[in-house]
Amino acid sequence: MDNAVILAGGQGKRMKADMPKPLFKVLGEPMLEWVIGACEGAGISDLCIVKGYRAEMIDEYLDGRYETVLQAERLGTGHAVMQAVPFLKKNTDGNTLILCGDAPFIDSETIKKSLEQHKANGNAVTVITSELDEPKGYGRIIRTADGISSIVEEKDATPEQKKIKEINSGAYWFRTADLIESLGHLTTDNSQGEYYLTDTIYVLLEQGKRADAFRSENPNVVLGANDRKGLLMLNKTAREDIISRHLENGVEFTCTDGITIGRDVVIGAGTQILSGTVLSGKTVIGSDCVIGPDCIIENSSVGNGTKLNYVQCYDSKIENNVKIGPFVQVRPGSHILDGAKIGDFVEIKNSTIGECTAVAHLTYVGDSDVGGCVNFGCGVVTVNYDGEKKSRCTIEDNAFIGCNTNLVAPVKIGKGAYTAAGSTVTKDVPADALVIERGEARIIEGYAPRKLKNRKKK
Ligand code: UD1
Ligand code: CA
Repeated sequence: MDNAVILAGGQGKRMKADMPKPLFKVLGEPMLEWVIGACEGAGISDLCIVKGYRAEMIDEYLDGRYETVLQAERLGTGHAVMQAVPFLKKNTDGNTLILCGDAPFIDSETIKKSLEQHKANGNAVTVITSELDEPKGYGRIIRTADGISSIVEEKDATPEQKKIKEINSGAYWFRTADLIESLGHLTTDNSQGEYYLTDTIYVLLEQGKRADAFRSENPNVVLGANDRKGLLMLNKTAREDIISRHLENGVEFTCTDGITIGRDVVIGAGTQILSGTVLSGKTVIGSDCVIGPDCIIENSSVGNGTKLNYVQCYDSKIENNVKIGPFVQVRPGSHILDGAKIGDFVEIKNSTIGECTAVAHLTYVGDSDVGGCVNFGCGVVTVNYDGEKKSRCTIEDNAFIGCNTNLVAPVKIGKGAYTAAGSTVTKDVPADALVIERGEARIIEGYAPRKLKNRKKK
């Protein structure tokens, strides 16, 4: 079985943060996660992650999902892979993919195609390469009639070699047994005094084995970030790539200002995404929706024909032909059914809002089960927390909740029942009834002039 080793030991000093570089985020997800995703997408899930700088942060992030090894000292890429030898020895029959945890744009397609070539040609090592107009800083690929003869680091390269544009992306396929064998022969005899992983090529060629390169069609496979500016560039590249993929799928953008879409987000054709909208996590949006301006949708699903305007929505489900906004927050655990309307300054939390129900303005619905065709007046509050525990409200179909009603949970409003405006409802209301829970009106005649006299005295 094939496996992979991801190098994630780097610090990234120029980021000026106390964090391993692979944990810096591109479109809201750590670069390491992008690399892991590319492996998983290519069907490789037997992974070993080499950690170094602030290793405990890598552990905390991975939370036991994958095996890790510690590279206690940073002595080069070859040394980093040496730390994974015990992992590699568990299964020496297949091939091993080596990747950099801070080069997020390696893709599953490149991984799969390079493995095919690697196996078909019987290579001991296949280097994944890329052609760059500005190859400065990268290892240059020295091709021969029948493969490659070496990779020369910038610092070790002659002026002629520096002109070569095909560079080492830092990703490789090795026959696992050959990798283990060749690591044992590395030395630090180079300008940086490091164990270069790339020197395995000499070792393998000397043993009469094949070394070759696979040129990726994806020009971004090599991209990484050395500083915050570089990280911003990675975000920009990813953002544009993803938007162009959605354009191809029939999603409409009139401009892309402030629009950020996570790599796993799915959007149906005919949907319009307006400026300032951020879609992230496992969000799925249906067809013919209008999302934006300025929506934040995280880990949520939205049906077809739904319009969201200045909405923030987290871990929730919104169905078809729903209209929400402006200035609405839908908090985790909410489910908003077909045709519902939710208007300005409304918060919905952990609640179901039934079909065609209207919550038009200035209302809080928390921990509640609301039926269909319910009408909420302005300023309704479900009083779901007594300072100790949370309780639920149930509001059945066709109920009419008057303006400024407080529903003190747990309480149930039966089918078709009315609550009088300004009531603080503390008792269950049967179907079709009206509840009035407020003080009787008291009229005090001639009050104002007396009051005015006192104020004038003062
Ligand atoms: C390496 C390659 C170079 C290639 C470039 C692509 C070598 C000798 N050179 O360059 O040919 O063009 O990658 O980016 O391999 N790392 C560790 N421990 C170490 C050293 C590095 O974990 O001791 C990790 C880094 O965190 C990073 C990856 O290995 O994820 C590459 O290291 P980096 O120093 O960026 O690569 P270079 O040596 O510059
Ligand atoms: Ca280096």
